[in-house]
Amino acid sequence: MTKPKLILDVDTGSDDAVALALAMLGGEAELLGITTVNGNLELKLTTDNTLRVVDLCGMGDRVPVYPGCEYPLVSTLNPRSAQSMRPIPKREGTSAGKFGMHSDHLPLPATDLAPQKQAASVWMIETVMAAQPQTITLVALGPLTNVAAAMRVQPQFAQRLRRIVLMGGADETGNETAAAEFNIWADPEAAEILLQSGVPITMIPLDATHQAFLSEEQAEQIDAIGTPLARFIAQLLRDRIAGYAKRDPEMAAKKIAPLHDALALCYALHPECIRRSVETVCHVDLGGGAAYGRTVLDRRANMVQEKPNCTFALEPDREFFCDWLIGILQKAAEKNG
Ligand code: RIB
Ligand code: CA
Repeated sequence: MTKPKLILDVDTGSDDAVALALAMLGGEAELLGITTVNGNLELKLTTDNTLRVVDLCGMGDRVPVYPGCEYPLVSTLNPRSAQSMRPIPKREGTSAGKFGMHSDHLPLPATDLAPQKQAASVWMIETVMAAQPQTITLVALGPLTNVAAAMRVQPQFAQRLRRIVLMGGADETGNETAAAEFNIWADPEAAEILLQSGVPITMIPLDATHQAFLSEEQAEQIDAIGTPLARFIAQLLRDRIAGYAKRDPEMAAKKIAPLHDALALCYALHPECIRRSVETVCHVDLGGGAAYGRTVLDRRANMVQEKPNCTFALEPDREFFCDWLIGILQKAAEKNG
């Protein structure tokens, strides 16, 4: 069976790091390249962290990393926008930053690996246009600036993709604000460009990722695998459990944390990891007020005029997801002796 061809767009970031490592070590996909974007941290840090993970996985000669956009498309230019005072979302200014979820540098050695010279969106366009139509899946795990820019520059880009799987959105409750999930909030206009593009999109929102949590016991199980990569992931998971404990009493009591981006990657490779989803019309609130960046699902049944523009995941198969994640780390350890 041929492996699915993937491009990963990331803002590494602790949960991005886990997704990246699983994509590289799982061997389930042909990873064409990685693109980085401003998001959890400023671009130079998300790029450096990405290169550190690539180095840890020993993939420096196989997986190129292309740095992308340093700023959201327009949101920081709008004086009415909640983001106008914050040209680049800074770690200390975002909710994840306040709870210590993404440190500037991942706890990995500095790397000599260098990013590619070509800009992320330009490389994405060249790669997708050169491939057979509808053969490449784009897995977007950060704000959607790079992808939206590619769509605007090359109008054929969207229709040449097989599909987009993105971690983002929230129906029930946001994380960055009461209404909005971080990846969509960080560049709402970019997200709306994707949702209007006509490309098949699956959104893996907080509604799904919060149910696909990992526990402290699982952190120990991962640690016990004993490879540098497993130890690193166990440490990230423990840090996230500590971070979530500060913001969510329920997660604090259970000592658990989600690894949002890893669930989105899992879905791209194993759609059965999502048990329940809805085909829906979804748009992003661009009004600049309290709901700015919110993903608004149209649930009015027969009154909806538009065709559904995305599949919105609602419930994961947590056991499948956890077994998949831990299984990859175990197999990688066995392979290396
Ligand atoms: O809301 C979760 C998303 O924002 C994830 O992609 C994570 O990396 C983050 O910062
Ligand atoms: Ca991310």
